[in-house]
Amino acid sequence: MSTICVIGTGYVGLVTGTCFSDMGNQVTCVDIIPEKIERLKQGILPIYEPGLEEMVERNVHAGRLQFTTSYSEGLDNCDFIFIAVNTPTGSNQGGADMRYVENAARSIAQELDHHHAVIINKSTVPVGSGDVVSRIIRKNLKRPDVPFAVVSNPEFLREGSAVQDFQNPDRVVLGSSDQEAARKVATLYLPLRAPIVITDLYTAEMIKYASNAFLATKISFINEMAQICERLGADVKEVAAGMGYDKRIGRAFLDAGLGFGGSCFPKDVRALTHMADEAGLHPQLLRAVMDINHDQRRLVVTKLTSILGSVRGGTIGILGLAFKPNTDDMREAASVDIVRWITNQGATVRVYDPVATDTGREALEREDVRMEAIIFCKNAYEVAEGADALVIVTEWNEFKSLDMHRIKNAMHHPVLIDGRNIYEASEMKRLGFTYRGIGRGTGPDPSVLPSGDSTSTQPLLSGKES
Ligand code: UDX
Repeated sequence: MSTICVIGTGYVGLVTGTCFSDMGNQVTCVDIIPEKIERLKQGILPIYEPGLEEMVERNVHAGRLQFTTSYSEGLDNCDFIFIAVNTPTGSNQGGADMRYVENAARSIAQELDHHHAVIINKSTVPVGSGDVVSRIIRKNLKRPDVPFAVVSNPEFLREGSAVQDFQNPDRVVLGSSDQEAARKVATLYLPLRAPIVITDLYTAEMIKYASNAFLATKISFINEMAQICERLGADVKEVAAGMGYDKRIGRAFLDAGLGFGGSCFPKDVRALTHMADEAGLHPQLLRAVMDINHDQRRLVVTKLTSILGSVRGGTIGILGLAFKPNTDDMREAASVDIVRWITNQGATVRVYDPVATDTGREALEREDVRMEAIIFCKNAYEVAEGADALVIVTEWNEFKSLDMHRIKNAMHHPVLIDGRNIYEASEMKRLGFTYRGIGRGTGPDPSVLPSGDSTSTQPLLSGKES
């Protein structure tokens, strides 16, 4: 049993602290926001994460998990101090805003007055930040001779399966210039029986960025393939399935759609690009990943105008606001750009999300979207009423088994833009929809067929996808 303090009660902090307490450790979670701590003490969580609420309750009840706003209470006699505060994108062209991490480091330094504590950074920070944390702590120590070590331990939790991901990690990464400290932290994770990578601080911090950048690249890659598939008559879903059997490729993260959002991928790809730029490099692949991601969202408007001519004066239904299903998180959600573009072109938008209505409304307001052009509906059928087109933006399960006959009858024009490829084109056509998925070509387009004349100098692709 170890004594652990976790700074920050957001996604990462709360899941980390709760899961460690569930493994039998004594955990105190510290947050500087009193209302958050007050609510947590009453068992009210700031986020929804499957399995987390019961786990918090169980461990609070067992006396292994507590919440406080006081650093001195949290750090009292603890062996491990996790920093899990957020690092949003700063104002410096995509670089990470380190203020919260730096404040946490200063506050920790003020309270360190006992034995050799290990400070573990879980927040995603620019490569080299572990040294910055060490320097801040050393500079602010009350007693200059207190020994301490800093270890980087990046997290790879996904929203919606964070508890499960914590308990079954693919790997645990630990980096430090003090290998003994890294090995101490490794003991906390031994019960999880996962591979543990112990390396230096910079490499550990880089593993996090490289992993997220690679996954984002996989998504942008399949989205680029989708555009090519659509033009050449192939179906990207089957292409992804066919590619995925190759163990070197793998099927995961090959779902073409409206691109990635959320709190990590866009932020981390931008931050890595910024770091590379600052280092005098030319991170062209990372830039392309973000460009493709932006263009995927834009496809909705392209497809709508190619079918309807113009959306001005029309009504467009939007199904889903959250950046992915099973969350109310709106950070970097494709829906915000899509709703903004459509309303800016003079259309009315009818929207519904099973969970992200309040957060969706707030996000749209924050992003200066014309709210008077948006009607919030109670379900998908209400969204379809009188709509000239319906766009699936988030692939919630409840959108996968709608009564599409009823949807079609409610609509003014039966146009379906399936931004997440959840419906079968042939079935939707049979029902009478004008259906467009992402990258779902249906046989060859005569304008781009190879001529069969090997001496031809005609380019294979002519013009843009419409
Ligand atoms: C991600 C990483 O998976 C996690 O390891 C890291 O710690 C935080 O960032 P998360 O943001 O919760 O987790 O979402 P994830 O499920 O990975 O999806 C990210 C985005 O990619 C979503 O917008 C999703 O719609 C999109 N996506 C994912 C695709 O467009 N296609 C895919 O094939 C997979």
